Amino acid sequence: MPIKTIIEPFRIKSVEPIRASTREERQRLIEAAGYNLFLVPSDAILIDLLTDSGTSAMSTEQWAAMMRGDESYAGSPSFERFRNAVQAIFGFRHVIPTHQGRAAERILFAVMCKKGDVVPNNTHFDTTRANCEFVGAEAVDLPIPEAREPAHLPPFKGNMVTARLAELIGRAGAKKVPLVMLTVTNNSGGGQPVSMANIRAVKEICVRHKIPLYIDACRFAENAYFIKLREPGYAQKSPHDIAREMFSHADGCTMSAKKDGLANIGGFLCTNDDLLAQQEKDLLILTEGFPTYGGLAGRDLEVIAVGLNEALDEDYLKYRIASTAFLGNHIAKEGVPIVQPPGGHAIYLDARAFLPHIPPAQFPGVALAVELYLEGGIRSIEIGTLMFGEHATMDLVRLAIPRRVYTQSHVEYVVEVILEVWRRREQIRGFALTYQAPFLRHFSARLRPLEKAAT
Ligand SMILES: Cc1ncc(COP(=O)(O)O)c(C=O)c1O
Repeated sequence: MPIKTIIEPFRIKSVEPIRASTREERQRLIEAAGYNLFLVPSDAILIDLLTDSGTSAMSTEQWAAMMRGDESYAGSPSFERFRNAVQAIFGFRHVIPTHQGRAAERILFAVMCKKGDVVPNNTHFDTTRANCEFVGAEAVDLPIPEAREPAHLPPFKGNMVTARLAELIGRAGAKKVPLVMLTVTNNSGGGQPVSMANIRAVKEICVRHKIPLYIDACRFAENAYFIKLREPGYAQKSPHDIAREMFSHADGCTMSAKKDGLANIGGFLCTNDDLLAQQEKDLLILTEGFPTYGGLAGRDLEVIAVGLNEALDEDYLKYRIASTAFLGNHIAKEGVPIVQPPGGHAIYLDARAFLPHIPPAQFPGVALAVELYLEGGIRSIEIGTLMFGEHATMDLVRLAIPRRVYTQSHVEYVVEVILEVWRRREQIRGFALTYQAPFLRHFSARLRPLEKAAT
């Protein structure tokens, strides 16, 4: 009989203690934080599922590569290794390092967009939307309708509706659409993959209208693995070859290396357009740094060069996708409503279905995230009415799994805590805002619990 257990494809060389707190301590801390988990100190968190961004454990090869980091201001060989690694996978002519994904977004939108433009995406991530709107352009989400229905199970729920893309370009006029974006995997839509067929179909429309296609590539390796598992014709291909094919359809990309770069910091912007690359590098120098380091240390560039390839390792991807699915499947089988099917980097609880007695205006996602913290010291994040305001079509709580950090027993603990909160869900109350910033309000918002649930 073949062995069925999928194990962590690594052993542990260095450990980082995590501390259990008491419920009273957590109650005090969350109150002081205005019920915003971003404002709780991380040493008071037992299992931190706030984000998979910048939280990966580095490999021995990455730590070794750090020592090779050349910190020369200009022309560092670390940049050469970084650029070669990026080009071998992504294939673009110009590779511009940035300190993280949003810096790449800021430069891209500043150079390509102006007031009155329209940028379609399957679903803009919050920083992508904010950077797009900051230059006066309109960020339009065009996910397939099933993406808004948590219980639906299509294999490529991250896809864009191509008919709506064509219609939008027709209505706005191609001149008003400086670029089209596809986010792989679709983070705000549940970590769901985009199929190769959809990338191709979107590209065809872009070509017809002479509009460049950019990929928000943060989780490109996980997306490539889903294509291998789910799309006919790809089962025999390596994640590396699938990734290459994905990017061969694009004119550029933005990347946060804090996800599938397996790095704690870093990102990049790529393009095939020489003129744009020059403008982007000019802006880069203004705020990020010289084009051979772009706000990163030489050692960070080395870490990313190694991490991009490790993220495409098939054993790693198999374990990664299986451990996320393990969490999702074990709570779903007890009735907990989640976005189905389980995504690549995270499980999303459907807070509207979990807490139907709390209306969206009373932030059911916040209420659920606070409860998971109080019950078991687990930190998650609301992706819903607090994050997106009136644009929110769902209220989700994302449990993002840091890469190579937690073991099976950590995940089993999380399952137990969620099921405990599920059992007493009717007692959970909604929240009201007491402070909000003008943009990206979820990072600093403060809230207060409502006296009793709305009836
Ligand atoms: C899809 C997507 N795009 C862009 C970003 C922004 O990247 P960063 O946090 O490195 O600025 C993120 C971060 O979570 C993301 O998930």
